[in-house]
Amino acid sequence: MTIKVTNGTIVVVSDMRTVKELLDDRSAEFASRPAFSGMDAVTGGRYFVTAPAESHYWKISRKVIQPLVSPQAVQKYHPLADMETTQLLYDILHKPEAFYDHITRSTLSFITSVVFGQRTPKHDSPIALSFREYIEQFSRVFSPESAPVDFIPALMYVPERWAPWKKMWKETQAMQHALYFKLFGEVEKRKRAGMNDECFVANMLERQEELALERDTIAYICGVLLDGGAETTASFLQNLILCLVKSPAVLKKAQMEVDSVVGDRLPDFNDIKSMPYVQAVIKETHRFLPTAPTAIPHASVDDSEYRGYIIPKKTPVLINVYLYERPEDFWPERYLLAPDGTISGLPDGMGYARTTLSFGSGKRLCPGMYLANTNTNLAVMRLLWAFDFASIDFPAPSTPKWDIENEFIDRYLSRESDLSFL
Ligand code: HEM
Repeated sequence: MTIKVTNGTIVVVSDMRTVKELLDDRSAEFASRPAFSGMDAVTGGRYFVTAPAESHYWKISRKVIQPLVSPQAVQKYHPLADMETTQLLYDILHKPEAFYDHITRSTLSFITSVVFGQRTPKHDSPIALSFREYIEQFSRVFSPESAPVDFIPALMYVPERWAPWKKMWKETQAMQHALYFKLFGEVEKRKRAGMNDECFVANMLERQEELALERDTIAYICGVLLDGGAETTASFLQNLILCLVKSPAVLKKAQMEVDSVVGDRLPDFNDIKSMPYVQAVIKETHRFLPTAPTAIPHASVDDSEYRGYIIPKKTPVLINVYLYERPEDFWPERYLLAPDGTISGLPDGMGYARTTLSFGSGKRLCPGMYLANTNTNLAVMRLLWAFDFASIDFPAPSTPKWDIENEFIDRYLSRESDLSFL
């Protein structure tokens, strides 16, 4: 499908075959990003998530982080995930009504520890407060407040006194710079004091000469990882709880599986392999309430052709991640070969389906996927093991009605919850 916006075209990919042929098999041709002028103004082009394929920052950033985020490398961070998920259970047990904040704290602390070697022990710790203030300001860059500069480029030339969005960009830039360099500077300080950090910043400082990295580049790469890693994993866990509250039968089945595998002990990393149903619930949550519903747009590097259609250079390409059978049902069984939940795998007819679709595709595939899964798999098993979830007007209706738009959006805007832990 294509959408016309002003004088440009946006391509929306809504079937797995096209995702595979266009974005996976020809990933180098579609590895770029469309224009993100507001972001470039704020970050000076150093935000590699939105940088185009030819950008030096994108290339060097992916190269530098690649050895730190592989499936093997992230195992080093198991003790951190263990600690953060244990505190998560403790916090929920003592103050269940604040579960939303506990999740946000837990995932933020995991990322700040991995990237900057610094925990966020409380929801109101200084890092947590600065990060929340910054991320709210940062989200304004993507909001209508920013003016549609990418669709009407002439808006970039409006003088600042008539362009309030330019003032907002400057404020965001100052806040971002201050946060990134504060966290980065603290690692440098510890290094000078001879302390042995295991975090990403410390690793990059070790390789600084070999890779010819400037301080500024390291601070921005790590800042981007903080932004990309904290809210995404928190939203995933919050979405999962929402899905389980709305689907009590799924919740029961998942809990029974956890109990049968671990009994009375706390679930551990290796247990996930023995829990095909819990794995299916995780995949289905990513599909049903994706953190990035259309992923981040890719763009064609040059003019391309696909099945007779011409896709001009820089055309934005979005993936519609709902593209499975019965898209509006929360139905983990879709990922199982045995309907009783005992065998993982995709049934016949779903041959093209890739269950990592919510992490994007091709050369832009989310680099934090294994890191995120390390932490969230453990958190999910432990939450299922420790708690029951229900809405305050318990019992939940047996045929839950979904109001996806409002439930999804309300959670983001109001941060209020009508859910409880039992
Ligand atoms: C549940 C957790 C997460 C989800 C669902 C998620 C999802 C995504 C998606 C959909 C993209 C766009 C991929 C594309 O363009 O094809 C992306 C990109 C990215 N993610 Fe994640 N992400 C998660 C966690 C993380 C974590 C933990 C980190 C870092 C520590 C991270 C860092 C990034 C970065 C840096 C990019 C940009 C990659 C590029 O443009 O080359 N993400 N993520």
